[in-house]
Amino acid sequence: MNLVRIRDGHDSNALSEAVEILRKGGVVAVPTETVYGLAGMTRDLRAIETIYALKNRPSNNPLIAHVLDADSARGLVAPGAWHDLAEHLAERFWPGPLTLVLPRSDSVPEMATGGLRSIAVRSPSHPVAREILERLEEPFSAPSANRSGCVSPTSALHVKADFPDSDLMILDGGACEVGLESTVLDLREPEGPRLLRPGSVSLKDLEPFVGSIEVFNSEQQGDSPGTSIRHYAPKTPLELVGSIAGATSTDAVIRFGALKPKDALLDLSLGEDPEVAAKELYAALRTADTCGAERILIQLPPAGEQWRAIVDRVRRASV
Ligand code: TXA
Ligand code: MG
Repeated sequence: MNLVRIRDGHDSNALSEAVEILRKGGVVAVPTETVYGLAGMTRDLRAIETIYALKNRPSNNPLIAHVLDADSARGLVAPGAWHDLAEHLAERFWPGPLTLVLPRSDSVPEMATGGLRSIAVRSPSHPVAREILERLEEPFSAPSANRSGCVSPTSALHVKADFPDSDLMILDGGACEVGLESTVLDLREPEGPRLLRPGSVSLKDLEPFVGSIEVFNSEQQGDSPGTSIRHYAPKTPLELVGSIAGATSTDAVIRFGALKPKDALLDLSLGEDPEVAAKELYAALRTADTCGAERILIQLPPAGEQWRAIVDRVRRASV
């Protein structure tokens, strides 16, 4: 029977079942502290193929491998590639929402990295994701558990909404603490690290450890194919605006601190605290997308480094 099912991620039997599915080359939706992921064993081609097929993800868009710790990460990268800087960053920021890109070990199927010679690795902090990694004793690869190009899921119900007819077990770990995908940092460049995707681990957090960081700004698929410009997009037309004052009764509004609009079908205020706004953003986009509005208006978030990741996501959603 093809049925999507939500199970309590803290329930030991559900965890055993999930690990059993993974060991057989299957796929399970797993909560992480950033967003929910569609997990399959990194070294199992069947699982990797299923992930791409379920998401309808372009085969050149590489996956992030999730590991318990730095030791496990070392096994996924090329011999000697796990250098001192990687070790320092892992000591400081793992487990947590920082992904490191390094040359890939030949033991990892090429398909798991979208055909690239590099691999992205991170160690999630969510207790359910960690429990899976402990029991599985193997890394799992996991993109965000949404259909390709759509809004990432921050709850089990979001995942279910994107895969209503799939034979998929979803482990429910509650609402994601961070709410935006991890920061992706490329550590392969001899000239120094490059920020491929901004996240809650900010340049300010990283620079004391790594010095100055180049910010990669691609409008196209390239070094990090998932950073192509249109992404995280609802189906309803979406506009990023300096002021939401012009909203009408058929608009859904998402704002950060601006005053309530005079008119709107739906008005969602995410406030002026970037951490809270990050946590709420994707749920707000999904609500705005399903409320019957003709258009979604998003207020351009405030300036400042702490808002970089949010600005990045709302820009991509508005293209
Ligand atoms: O927070 C997260 O990172 C979540 C949770 C589930 O861990 N995962 C996630 O995966 O956001 P996904 O597939 O939606 O985004 C992965 C991003 C893409 O932008 C992809 O291009 C980049 O990481 N990436 C993965 N492997 C890469 C590599 N070898 N080189 C450069 N970029 C890579
Ligand atoms: Mg994604």
